[in-house]
Amino acid sequence: MTPLWMGAVARVRAAVGDTPVDLAIVLGTGLGEVAGDDPADIAVPYSELPGFPRSDVSGHAGRLVLSRRGGRLIAWLQGRAHYYESGDARAMSGAIDALAALGAKQLIVTCASGSTRPDLATGSLVLINDHINFSGMNPLIGAEGDTRFVAMTQAYDPALAAQLKAAAAQAHVALGEGVYMWFSGPSFETPAEVRMAAVLGADLVGMSTVPEVILARRLGLRIAGLSLVTNFAAGIAGGDPDHAGTKRVAAAGADALKRLLDSFLLPSSESLS
Ligand code: HPA
Repeated sequence: MTPLWMGAVARVRAAVGDTPVDLAIVLGTGLGEVAGDDPADIAVPYSELPGFPRSDVSGHAGRLVLSRRGGRLIAWLQGRAHYYESGDARAMSGAIDALAALGAKQLIVTCASGSTRPDLATGSLVLINDHINFSGMNPLIGAEGDTRFVAMTQAYDPALAAQLKAAAAQAHVALGEGVYMWFSGPSFETPAEVRMAAVLGADLVGMSTVPEVILARRLGLRIAGLSLVTNFAAGIAGGDPDHAGTKRVAAAGADALKRLLDSFLLPSSESLS
């Protein structure tokens, strides 16, 4: 049976021809504008891309923006589906499969998060160097064959991380580094859960990212994660997160993320392949 996402591949091919996608970037809550608005870009609503999510979370546009930067074709995903919307941890699998089939070799996942560390204040941009899957869920449950046993030792690619750090330095954007713990949501964590997360080694808590990373690692994509701290996690330095605050702070912090990624995507950047 032909997978649904093949229709998305065909739709993108009709828009951009045979040029392979080089890099895909998932833009999280409130971060959609980071893609920029170059009139030469092509935006395709997810509704025209079979297998892509029908996200209805406010703060997510639900479109794929295809842009050429420095000779490379970049696919920006403005919006993602979350596990908590449907209870399906594979909600992003069609999109990831389609992007890999379109040629993507690298994936940058971005997200909003709460910080468990007093020194990673609201507005901080953090490079995710590892994650803890605390949800008990895995998007590969039910998958068949030996490729489901995905190695997660270097899930976040050290070379890509080094390039992002260099780009951040060049753009004068402060970039922290830390471990992201995935909670299912949609309720925020309790202060006790956040204390536990910190004890277990998490610097950030959030409700996304990890399923996409697992799915993309299975396909061999090299991954980087960038998180914008939109609040102190519950109970940390008086943290009391809410969705309106997440969207507001993400929109304000999107500028720094845009500067970092624009610097990373400069034509002068080293080839990533
Ligand atoms: N917890 C979980 N997800 C989040 C948070 C948080 O504090 N902030 C933004 N996304």
